[in-house]
Amino acid sequence: MHRHTPAAAAPVTLLESILESVPVGCALLDGDLRLTRVNAALAALTGRSGWELLGVPVTEVFSGLSADTPGMCRRVMRTRTPVLGMFAAAGGRALRVDCHPLPETEGLPDGLWIVVSDTTAHHELDASEARYRSVVASMAEGVILVDAEGWITACNASAERILRVDREALVGTRLGDARWKAVREDGTPAPPDELPAVDTLRTGRAHDDVVRGLRAGDGRMVWLSLNSQPLRAPGEGGAQGVALSFTDVTERRTAERLASAEMRLLEMVAAETPLEAVLRRLALLVEDHCRGAVCGVMRVSEDGSLLHPLAGPSLPAEYLAAIDGATVGARAGSCGTAVHRREPVYVVDIAADPLWAAFAGLALSHGLHACWSAPVLASDGSVAATIALYFSEPRAPSDADIRVVELAVSIARLAIERERAREALRESERQRVDVLARMLRAEDEERARIAADLHDDTIQVLAGSLISIDRVLRAARASGTGVPTALTDARVLLSSTLDRTRRLMFEIRPPLLESHGLGHAVGELLDQARRDMGIQVAVTIDVARLSPSTESLVYRTVQELVANARKHARATRLEVSLRSAGGRLEGRVRDDGTGFDIARARDRSVMRLHLGLEAVSERLRLAGGDFSIESRPGEGTTARFGLPIS
Ligand SMILES: Nc1ncnc2c1ncn2[C@@H]1O[C@H](COP(=O)(O)OP(=O)(O)OP(=O)(O)O)[C@@H](O)[C@H]1O
Ligand SMILES: [Mg+2]
Repeated sequence: MHRHTPAAAAPVTLLESILESVPVGCALLDGDLRLTRVNAALAALTGRSGWELLGVPVTEVFSGLSADTPGMCRRVMRTRTPVLGMFAAAGGRALRVDCHPLPETEGLPDGLWIVVSDTTAHHELDASEARYRSVVASMAEGVILVDAEGWITACNASAERILRVDREALVGTRLGDARWKAVREDGTPAPPDELPAVDTLRTGRAHDDVVRGLRAGDGRMVWLSLNSQPLRAPGEGGAQGVALSFTDVTERRTAERLASAEMRLLEMVAAETPLEAVLRRLALLVEDHCRGAVCGVMRVSEDGSLLHPLAGPSLPAEYLAAIDGATVGARAGSCGTAVHRREPVYVVDIAADPLWAAFAGLALSHGLHACWSAPVLASDGSVAATIALYFSEPRAPSDADIRVVELAVSIARLAIERERAREALRESERQRVDVLARMLRAEDEERARIAADLHDDTIQVLAGSLISIDRVLRAARASGTGVPTALTDARVLLSSTLDRTRRLMFEIRPPLLESHGLGHAVGELLDQARRDMGIQVAVTIDVARLSPSTESLVYRTVQELVANARKHARATRLEVSLRSAGGRLEGRVRDDGTGFDIARARDRSVMRLHLGLEAVSERLRLAGGDFSIESRPGEGTTARFGLPIS
């Protein structure tokens, strides 16, 4: 009897006869995944006869194939990439099924061929393995199994979820596939050889907690903590494959990066970095942590009615210029409305949102389609600024986005408050300097008035009196009485009073200071000391002309220090130096006299009427300068002072 048993019974080609003789099961599958040729070994493995298997879909021949097997087979046909190591069972055996594309030969129908080997010895599909598999399947960790050649043979559901790919797109590809674009923790590319599982396969070494970034199936970067373990079959030496397990640490990493970026910004704030530089950096931080965002910070005008850009490093300059002076109001785009409402406004689609009705054209013309804005409330309750995030497509914020915005608001608040405090300090400093200048000016005017009075009045009267006495003296001499002696005494007294009054006039308002500056005035002061006391003097003065109030302050300071040396020191040498460097004037007055106990001189209870040094140091301090004095009894005295000059 002739029975038609198409392929199994009638090997027609050399290839088929070889296939008949190999010990592994082989079958050809057509485009519908039905078996069209079957060799004897496969029939034996499945426990069915060859002809019984013909025309039967592969999924019915084997049990235990994963549910996505048809999809996977079709992918083999489409991509012409084999999928190796699928697990299956038939006839009570554990089988390994490798799925290969058919050679691309003209006229050959669509299909593939499978190679089936008996792995019962290795993979006893007993109850414990089944349990093990179900544990792996339900693990939150992603698990990928890799065979000895580096092909991915299996993965669990978590691996699909974490990598955002289907099992089908993963199994049958090679580990270290370039599409993952792996990067190291510092963001530099990680060559495939450096992936822990690839290394484990090569060296047999396990790896633990290696952090790598991968480009997930949806194009986003995921950060993984990877562990890899070599798989060794009992009794066999080398690694038969690798089990790669991993957890998604993207959120943890993002939080860490955010925290360190926050820290860097707070350091900038603490270091008194100018507000605009801090806000520029803040905008970049926001852009770095909210995918696709372009960030701007707007200042609210003092009366709370207008907005002015403070920072927007990635926003078009033209757009920033156009929104400068934008108004605050109930329907004033995202920023104006956020300031008006004193709460964040998330406009998901600028084109459709009524808040943007009046301004949408401007934003859309710059490719801006969504805008979220969060106001920055200052401690006095006013809205100081608002932080805006723009997107090139309509977009609603995620929880993570909102966290970034909140963080940005709190940093901006801190930076703005610090800036305000600094500004208040600058203002009070300006006022103090102003008051001091006015005080010194008033003092100088008063001195000028007294000097003028002395000159115009007292000195004239004294000089007039001298002339009268001279006249009386001549008359008395002629009459030859004893009057001349008394008159001569009176004349000497009056003459020395005139001298002292003249000197007082010059001390009160040295005309040289006004006309020729510190160099001449201080030179004259020291010359006077040399003449009066017979001591050596050395004067080094290297300063240009300064403002009248500063010159006056410096002169008064030197004057008091020189006066002290003259009065108290019994010095043989007196040195004065004035130098300007780096926007400061540095002065020094040194004598080689008796020296004194500074602590005692400062003690108000004993030195109540001695105000010279205290007044000097207070005046310098008021002008933003400093004063110090070094002295020890018997060792002379050195006074130093510094003063900002502009
Ligand atoms: N160059 C100096 N050598 C020695 N002793 C000094 C010197 N300068 C100051 N002293 C001591 O310090 C004290 C305080 O000086 P300060 O200039 O404050 O007051 P005064 O000169 O005594 O009085 P005033 O300056 O108010 O006229 C002096 O009384 C003196 O004992
Ligand atoms: Mg004094």
